[in-house]
Formats: sequence, C-alpha cells, structure tokens
Amino acid sequence: MARRCSRATSRFTGDIHIHIGKLVTSAVSLCLCLLFLSSAEAGLYTASDQIQVLTLENVDSVLVNSTAAIVVEFYASWCGHCIAFSPVYKSLARDIKEWKPAVDLAAIDCAVEENRKVCTGFGIRGYPTIKFFHAYSKGDSTGLAFGGFPREVRGLRQRIIDALESHEDPWPPACPPLEPTSQAEIDIFFETNSVEYLALIFEDSKSYIGREVTLDLLQYDNIAVRRVLSTEEALVAKLGVTEFPSCYLYYPGGNFTRLNVHIEARTFYSYALQRLHGVVRSGKPRPVTEDLQRNDTEEAWRPFNRSMVYMADLESALHYSLRVELSAHPVFKGETLNALKSYISVLAKYFPGRPVVVNLLKSVDSWLQDHTGAEVSYAALREQLDNSGQVPDAALPEGVRWVGCQGSKPYFRRYPCGVWTLFHVLTVQAQSSAGSEPQEVLQAMAGYVRNFFGCRPCAEHFSNMVQESLAEVHSLSIAVLWLWSRHNRVNNRLAGAPSEDPHFPKIQWPPPELCSGCHGVKKSGEHSWNQEQVLAFLLSHFSSDSLLTDYLEDESQVLAQQRAKHESQKLLLEAQRRVERKAREALGSITQPPSSQPTAEEEEEEEEEEGAQEEMAEEEEGGEGAAAADEMGSKTSEPASWAKPGVETGRGRRQAQRKPSIVGMRLRDLQEDIVDLDSFVNQHYKAKALRAAAASSRVKRRSLQRKEEQDPGPVFGLGMELDAGLGMVGLQAMETDLGLDMGQQSERLQKRGLTGQYVAGSEVELSQRLYAQSHRGRWVSVLSIGFSAVDISLCIFLYFLSSMCLLAMYLYFKNCLRLRRAKVALP
Ligand SMILES: Cc1cc2nc3c(=O)[nH]c(=O)nc-3n(C[C@H](O)[C@H](O)[C@H](O)COP(=O)(O)OP(=O)(O)OC[C@H]3O[C@@H](n4cnc5c(N)ncnc54)[C@H](O)[C@@H]3O)c2cc1C
Ligand SMILES: *[C@@H]1O[C@H](CO)[C@@H](O)[C@H](O)[C@H]1NC(C)=O
Ligand SMILES: *[C@@H]1O[C@H](CO)[C@@H](O)[C@H](O)[C@H]1NC(C)=O
Ligand SMILES: *[C@@H]1O[C@H](CO)[C@@H](O)[C@H](O)[C@H]1NC(C)=O
Repeated sequence: MARRCSRATSRFTGDIHIHIGKLVTSAVSLCLCLLFLSSAEAGLYTASDQIQVLTLENVDSVLVNSTAAIVVEFYASWCGHCIAFSPVYKSLARDIKEWKPAVDLAAIDCAVEENRKVCTGFGIRGYPTIKFFHAYSKGDSTGLAFGGFPREVRGLRQRIIDALESHEDPWPPACPPLEPTSQAEIDIFFETNSVEYLALIFEDSKSYIGREVTLDLLQYDNIAVRRVLSTEEALVAKLGVTEFPSCYLYYPGGNFTRLNVHIEARTFYSYALQRLHGVVRSGKPRPVTEDLQRNDTEEAWRPFNRSMVYMADLESALHYSLRVELSAHPVFKGETLNALKSYISVLAKYFPGRPVVVNLLKSVDSWLQDHTGAEVSYAALREQLDNSGQVPDAALPEGVRWVGCQGSKPYFRRYPCGVWTLFHVLTVQAQSSAGSEPQEVLQAMAGYVRNFFGCRPCAEHFSNMVQESLAEVHSLSIAVLWLWSRHNRVNNRLAGAPSEDPHFPKIQWPPPELCSGCHGVKKSGEHSWNQEQVLAFLLSHFSSDSLLTDYLEDESQVLAQQRAKHESQKLLLEAQRRVERKAREALGSITQPPSSQPTAEEEEEEEEEEGAQEEMAEEEEGGEGAAAADEMGSKTSEPASWAKPGVETGRGRRQAQRKPSIVGMRLRDLQEDIVDLDSFVNQHYKAKALRAAAASSRVKRRSLQRKEEQDPGPVFGLGMELDAGLGMVGLQAMETDLGLDMGQQSERLQKRGLTGQYVAGSEVELSQRLYAQSHRGRWVSVLSIGFSAVDISLCIFLYFLSSMCLLAMYLYFKNCLRLRRAKVALP
C-alpha cells in the first residue's frame, strides 16, 4: 500500500519536490500519503487482490514491452456495474494466479481525474471495459477489447485463453504451447524435452480443461502438459482412453498410467500434478524428505503427523505473542489497550489449554479487566504473565517448541503458522461453546494483527480483508468458515512466494486427501467447496479433543520452572534493594560532618595515595578499612540483611546479634562500604545500581573478578577474601547472579528445544544452588554468633582507632573510584 500510496501522492507533491529538500519532501509525502490514504483506498482494487493497480505514472511501464500479456479492466469507482463486477474480477485474479508469467491482470480507475487522460487515450467510453494487451505491446497499442464479456470467472478465463491462442508473435515466453498434441509430437517429445512427466489430458475439442491445466502448471519444472483431442484416435487407442476428460501420465520410456483424481476436473488435475514426486515450482529447491531429518533446522526435528494439530504449537504461539511480540509495546493505551484486552479475554474464554495455562490466562484476563487506568505497561503485564503474584497452578510455559509448525529452515513457518492455528482453534472453540458474539474472536484477531502482529504487510492485507467482509459474519459457524476462506486467500496469494516452505507448499486447504467430501464441482465443471462438509471438517480438525499433546513439557515441570524463576528473581530483587539501601545510608552517613570532612592532613595524604599502588589500598582495605567499616556499620540504623531472604530475622534480633559480632560485622559491612563508596563517589554508578539489579550485581561480580586476578592465591584464598573483604552482600549478589544465569540458561536450553529432562536437570541444579546458598547464609550467622564473645576491650580499642580508620576508608574510597574508572574503560 505504501508503494501505491507514494505513487498516488507524488502527483500532489510534485511542486513541493522542487522547492524543499529531499528530507522534508519525504516527510510531506508521508503526511500526504496518510491524508490521501482514503482516496487511494477509494479504488475497487488493492495490492492484496493480486491485480496490478494502474495509474498515470505506471501505465506505460506496465503495459509496454511486458513479457506477459496483460488484461486490463477500465472502470469507474462510482459505477454500480463496476462495483458489482469487482468481486468477479478479484476471483478471476485468484483463479488464474498461476498464469501470471504468461498473462497478468491489471485495473485502472478512470474516475480518478489524473487517469482520465489514460482512459481516453485507450478510447474508453463505458465502464467496465476489458482489454487484452499482447506481450511486448508497443507504446501506441490500444489493446484488444473483450466485447460483451461474461460476468463470471469461467467465461472470462476462456476468453483469455482464446486471446492467448490467437496471440501473434512475439509469443509470451513463459506461455507453453496450447494447441492439441499429436502422436507424432509425443513420439519425439522426450528427445527434445528433459522433463520427468508428460501429462496428457484427453478431452473433446470444446473443452478448455487441457489448456487451463497447461497454464496452471506453467510455473512448475519437470512436467509438461498437453491436451489430446478425443479425435486423435491412434493415441486414444494406444492408451485405451474411454473417458473424456481424463488425464494420463506418460513417461520417457513410453510407459503410461492414468492419473487418479477425486473428480475429473481442472482443479483436481492441477492439484495432483503439482504434487507429483519430483515436480517443483520453478526456482524452488526440490524438497528432499531426508533434508528435514538432517540437522539444518538448528534444532532436532520433531516428527509429526501433518494431518493433526499440536498443543505445542498453540502454547508456542502464546509464548511468542505474549512475551515477545507484545513486549515491543512498552505501554498499552487507547486502541492498543482495547486490542490487548479483547485478545486476552478471548484467550481466557476459549483457549482449550491445559489447566495451568488456562488458569494463567484467566488470571491475566481478570487482572486486565479490573485495571481501570488508561494505561497498562508491558512490565506490569509481564509480571502477570510470569505469574509473579503466584496464583496457584497457573503458568505459561516459556519458550517455543514448534511441532506441526516446524519449517525446513529456521525462517520458514513457525510463528505465523502458530497464529493461524491458534485463531482457527479459537473460532472453533467459540462455536462449540456457543458464545454469544459471532465476531468476538475475529475482532480480537483483527485487533491483534492490526496492532501487534510484527509482519506489517501481513497486517495490512489482513485488515483489508477484515474491512471488506467481516461485517458479513453473523453466526459463529460463519466465523469459522470466514477465517478458513480468508486463510485460503492468503495461501493463494502466497503460493510460490519466497516465504513459502518448499516442504509445505501453500495449497487451498483442506486438500482432497484430508477431506474429499469438502470438494465438489458445479455443473460447469468449476471447483466448488462443499461448505457444510468444510465446516464439519474444521470443527473436528481444530476441536479440543483432537489436539495432540506430544512434545509438551510436563505441567509440574512448568510450575517448578516458574517457581525457580521467581526464587531467583526474588533474590535478585533483595540484592538490589540492599544495594539501594546501602547507597542511601552511605550518602547519609558520609555527609555527616565528623566522618565525612577530611582534615587538611588527610587531604594531603589523599593526594599522595592517589598515585600509590593498588595493592597497597587493597592491604589497607583488609586492615583498618574493615574496622572503619565496622564503625560505619554501627552508625547505620539499618542492619545488614545478609541472611537468606525468606529467613525470618526480626529487626531487634538482628540488632542484638550485630553489636558484639565484630568479625561478623567485618564480613559484611566492608562490602556495604564498597557499595556505599561507589555510590557516594560516583552518582552515576548509584543511578545504575538503582536502575537494574542485574547490572549492579554484575558490576560487583566484575569487581570480584578483579580481585581474583590480582590475587594469585588458591581458590580457597579467593573465597576467604570474598568473605573477608567483600562480605555476604556481594557474595549473595553474585550467587543470585549465578542463579539468574541458571534461570536464563534453562530458558535458553528450553528454547533450543532440548528435552524436558535436560531442563528439569538444570532446574534441580538451580534449586540445589539456592539450597546451598541458604546454607551458606546460615553458616555465616553461626560464624557471627561464634565471635560474639570476643573481648570487649578489643572492641573499645577498635573504636578508639576509628578516626584512623576513617582516613583509611577515605583512601579506599579514592582507590575504589579509580577502580571504577578503570572498569568504565573496560568493554
Ligand atoms: C493474519 C496473517 C496474515 C499474513 N499475511 C501474510 C502476507 O501478507 N504475506 C506473507 O508473506 N505472509 C503472510 N502471513 C504468513 C503466512 O500466511 C504463513 O503463516 C507463513 O508463510 C507460514 O506458512 P505455513 O506453511 O506454515 O502455513 P500457514 O498458512 O501458516 O498455515 C498453518 C497451518 O494451518 C493449516 N491451514 C492452511 N490453510 C488453512 C485454511 N485455509 N484454514 C484452516 N487451516 C489452514 C495447515 O495445516 C497449515 O499448515 C500471514 C500470517 C497471518 C497470521
Ligand atoms: C521496448 O523494447 C524495444 C526492443 O527491445 C526497445 O527498442 C524499446 O525502446 C522498448 N520500449 C520501451 C518503452 O521500453
Ligand atoms: C540432530 O541433533 C540432535 C541434537 O543435537 C540429535 O539428538 C539428533 O540425533 C540429530 N539428528 C540427526 C539426524 O543427526
Ligand atoms: C495421522 O493421523 C491420522 C488421523 O488420526 C491417521 O489416520 C494417520 O494414520 C496418521 N498418520 C501417521 C503417519 O501417523
């Protein structure tokens, strides 16, 4: 649409182009484009109709020197007959879509003033008029008018074949020969053609089937189609043909077999021939079944039954849509909020999921419905999706594991396939649960696609279809059929497109092998869908009873995983809060006059120290620095909460534990200082720490690593230093970080589709880690109690030394700042 729009508006912007710069022009064009969107829409056809929309600008480039013949409808958008005819023309475009390289369809709206010149140039007086333009038409060609053309697809198709047959040279290169073949030609056919199959369609002279099928297969390699007239007695006798029409496959060796089809008609021949082994669309690789077994799909292939629907695809689609697509919208408000609400509401009502998933969807839905504000942030929604409120037995599995929607390459199928499947299932569920609003699911889908579906051209095409015909949906059954038929339209448009997986060609669905009763022919021989049968088929195919649960993660696993994630998140959050609190405290206590105002002497020393070796500062940190920290700790009103989160430690009790436990104090409080100082000397880092807990704990871990690098001691030594020099806060943060890493890792593993056991294994490991961590927390508390009987005099002595320590602390601050700076320089 954007292309068409810019074309349409360049007329209006013509003058502006000359006067203002390119940048401004494009902005203006964009605005005009938006303004004239409605006028561009006023035409009867859009790009989604597979009809080239002609304008003053493109008419020459489309018609002149084209390698395909072109059929053009000249119409006026106000003309009632044109409006009535437009659905027929659109159906024709879908019907002869495969013929495009030989003959293409176009239309021009003569009611648009700029197009008047074109229409009068072609001598158009009344609407609608259809003209046939030969391939390689000259600029002065006015085309061949289809006088009194039929107002139905079949008649039009035949007129086009007639026009093609009488096409003078140069013949459109993509168009195969259409005349009947003879015994003589067939005898030498395989000498001059290197195809695997020759399909012979035996018919009487008035039949168009042979020519139609020939054109239907013109984009396919390894096959040629010829018509044989019933009067070609030698061939008819040789193959023993008794039925007209009928189709035979003729092989290079002279062997032949009859083509088995459900009904002897064009669509069935074309469908069967296009699916023959070895027949491929030109330019597409030949699908090799073993391809799929090989590991070029980045994850192990999951064998599946193509005629079934898998819950794994539905859950994957849910995960991807809710956790990935929606996350592109930081805030939902207005239309996006409404779209979100109706999407979630439809999911909560109709998603035929496992109890945990349904519970989760219901809880998210009721949360959203209760939400009265004008905005919802994605972060808040995400908390609901991840069940942070811990609604019992509710979870949405993380990650995707496509089954029926696997593609032969990582970029084929998957999510869009999942979206279609999801909404087919939802329309069917709404139908069988006898909802009250026929359009409910489709409106929710339309809103989702319009607002959130990442493929914008898809959204545009889909919205066109919604605008065109959603209003006709007035029952739940029609809603099911509507989505099915629109999906088939999309399949028709995309057949042969680059996004088509060669292993999963886009067909009109369901094919006869899935539902033969769905297909029929009219008296004229045209294909027709038996809608009752189609509906019955859809209702059973997408029903909740026929959903397969293969490859699904166990519910208990899903819940355990979610719990583990919450645990690690909680730890992370605690660590973050602690960091924030210490930062605040440090700010408060350091700005207090006695401890924060350095004397002139101290200032001097500081200058000296600035140039000193890092190791020196390190040493001091281990000595007086610790004592200083001790004093700091006793000044702060908030005790360090190094105990494992969730372990109840009353404030009074903690205070009681604290005072005498000097080593315990040292253990943790120095870390507090580090954090404090960092925050104090560098507001930037403080802000960062406040912003993201993950970031802050990572920073800390890096500082740990630095120490590790500096200290070449054994691993145990490092552990000691961690405890002595950095205290539990840092350690816990690091553990938390590791815990998070485990969580992320398990997520990643899951995404890679590794087996459930593997994920479960990592999860067990994670809980062991958390357990070990809680034990370490207890170990430290035991340690601190053990040292609570340390001599009071030592305490007093240390207190006495506090001013000295303050100095050391100050130096340490400086050093820390330097460390930080060094770290900033690191990538
Ligand atoms: C709303 C929407 C619009 C899209 N628009 C575009 C677009 O404009 N351009 C583009 O390149 N891609 C578009 N796509 C993506 C495209 O339609 C396919 O989803 C994608 O190419 C993957 O194709 P697939 O082979 O997995 O089959 P899909 O078309 O995704 O179908 C998935 C499965 O549904 C079943 N199915 C097929 N047809 C029907 C039917 N008629 N009724 C019921 N079930 C059926 C089949 O089992 C099939 O395997 C769109 C997707 C959506 C959801
Ligand atoms: C059409 O093709 C002919 C020959 O290839 C060429 O001479 C002529 O300029 C082309 N016309 C246009 C409008 O492209
Ligand atoms: C593909 O890889 C997976 C995991 O790496 C493996 O289990 C599977 O056997 C492989 N399949 C083939 C056909 O090599
Ligand atoms: C796929 O499922 C259908 C319907 O249940 C069944 O008839 C068919 O045998 C299955 N195919 C395979 C390969 O399992």
